[in-house]
Amino acid sequence: MRKKLAVLTAMTLALSMSCIGASADEDLITIGFAQVGHESDWRTASTQSCQDVFTEENGYDLQFVDCDNDSATQLEAVRNFIEQDVDYIIIDPIVSTGWDEVLTECEEAGIPVIIIDRTIDDSDKYAAWVGSNFTTEGLACGEWLKVYAEAKGIEEINALVIEGTTGSSAAIGRTEGFQEIADREGWTILDSQDGDFTQTGGQEIMESYIKSYEGQFNVVICQNDNEAFGAMDAMTAAGISYGVDGDVILVSFDACTAGLEYVQSGDINADFECNPLAAPFVEEVIQQLEAGETPETTIYMEEHWYVNEDIIETITVDGAEQSMTVVTDEIVEAQY
Ligand code: AHR
Repeated sequence: MRKKLAVLTAMTLALSMSCIGASADEDLITIGFAQVGHESDWRTASTQSCQDVFTEENGYDLQFVDCDNDSATQLEAVRNFIEQDVDYIIIDPIVSTGWDEVLTECEEAGIPVIIIDRTIDDSDKYAAWVGSNFTTEGLACGEWLKVYAEAKGIEEINALVIEGTTGSSAAIGRTEGFQEIADREGWTILDSQDGDFTQTGGQEIMESYIKSYEGQFNVVICQNDNEAFGAMDAMTAAGISYGVDGDVILVSFDACTAGLEYVQSGDINADFECNPLAAPFVEEVIQQLEAGETPETTIYMEEHWYVNEDIIETITVDGAEQSMTVVTDEIVEAQY
């Protein structure tokens, strides 16, 4: 463990001499990463991003824990990292609350914590956060839907929302952002339930929505691509048409490769990106901390909004003009 080694070397010459023949592994920066789970394509890309950056060749020893969407497992993983005295801890918090105690323990152990993707609402005991503005994503979805419905001559919006994991900042932000526009425009949100960011969850919620609301809805908002894939299966099975040529406008978030393929084919009308490739920015934070510098505490990922049809070039979100990008082969190929 490199950090501990440096301290001890400064303490005694004898001990530093004993380190001369030590294995190269002792020079690696050890990182514990408590990942949410493996619920989605997005999550796979996020894990891969960290595993690509924090390699031994790059000077890191990455301890990875898949917490399987279980908050207790995630807290335990962080405490195990403290026990192992890793140099840094990365957390993608499953839910946004319940963190102050364990982050205090990290602080007392002198281990800097970097939060990625989802936010923590009840503690600021971390060095930096790198992720997405989920409320902006939800607002963008609403602003696009408003302009799109106008362009298509659709006067009434009756929407069903399939949310992400309850208590996650990703679900909270997207729900609040979309709701704000729905309230402003007087749209009806018939129902909004937790699909847990999974394909199975999306399919099950959509099946139950079809039983309760068949014939009453013309928009389905899925808070990630995998939920959208499940919702598509459920609507196909029920004979409900969706997408660009269908009766139901289908909207998704994430814009992973498979999601964009469905935008390109017209099955999904619009997909609001959530960029999972945070690891290079996390590495920059770690290198700044290593150099004794103070990193930016809030780092937003760059994100794009994708559509099938070339009819709306820009939308205005929170006063800022943002582009709508038509999906091409090149975009799909370059995506994660
Ligand atoms: O926190 C990011 C969200 O979590 C992504 O939208 C979703 O796919 C993932 O599971």
